[in-house]
Amino acid sequence: MPGSANLNVMMKTARKAGRGLLKDFGEVENLQASTKGPGDFVSRADLRAEETIREELMTARPTYGFLGEEGAEIEGEDPTRRWIVDPLDGTTNFLHGLPHWAVSIALEHKGQVVAGVIYDPVKDELFFAEKGEGAWMNEQRIRVSGRSRMIESIFATGLPFGGRADLPETLKDLGRLLPTCAGVRRFGAAALDLAYVAAGRYDGFWERKLNAWDMAAGLVIAREAGAFVEPLREGGDIFADGEVICANEAIFPQFAKAIRS
Ligand code: IPD
Ligand code: CA
Ligand code: CA
Repeated sequence: MPGSANLNVMMKTARKAGRGLLKDFGEVENLQASTKGPGDFVSRADLRAEETIREELMTARPTYGFLGEEGAEIEGEDPTRRWIVDPLDGTTNFLHGLPHWAVSIALEHKGQVVAGVIYDPVKDELFFAEKGEGAWMNEQRIRVSGRSRMIESIFATGLPFGGRADLPETLKDLGRLLPTCAGVRRFGAAALDLAYVAAGRYDGFWERKLNAWDMAAGLVIAREAGAFVEPLREGGDIFADGEVICANEAIFPQFAKAIRS
């Protein structure tokens, strides 16, 4: 099992932030029925989680940079290393009391993600990987699925909401993909989508208009579990484009052909 000092810091931090969020998640249920709803409460929980993570990581590694969803980027004294953090991925689920959300923490070195941790506190599932060391969930080594037939395969994606411009493209993707496969899921947390490909639960995942913090940890976990992970646009760049496609090696060519054509 990988266990570098950095990875240990990341796991400890993800668990700490996760514990706080889990307490807050209990409170959300009580607020659903109130006239104001849980919106402001959830925004504060999200911010608090990022503060906890930033404090822990910056204390442990004061020279590293920090990019989190909720605050301004902090340039590190060491320009080669930076944390990429989504304190709460799956906010809409959290807000609605849906138990599917996670904390995501990645470490980037010289532009490459070298370690990632995704923690789902509700299910107590900690997904993690370090470059070259394989991928894990809790004490178990994880691998992508072995499915090679589209008709048996399940894919995950994100559906554009609130008037997002990529709706026509996504509808076209679904039109091509759905008749050929066993189903498409939209669970609402991109970090967990990538972790689930790594664990062989989904056979593949694609999404547009994502940010680095949605994907960073998941990319290294999926790769280390044996997934093919590529920019959606051939020759593109995952972070710069905000688009990704990944799947097990056997299904990737057929899946990518359906999405890219
Ligand atoms: C969102 C989730 C969702 C994806 C959205 C993201 P957030 O992140 O990952 O699955 O479809 O594009 O913004 O806002 O819950 O951190
Ligand atoms: Ca996110
Ligand atoms: Ca978030």
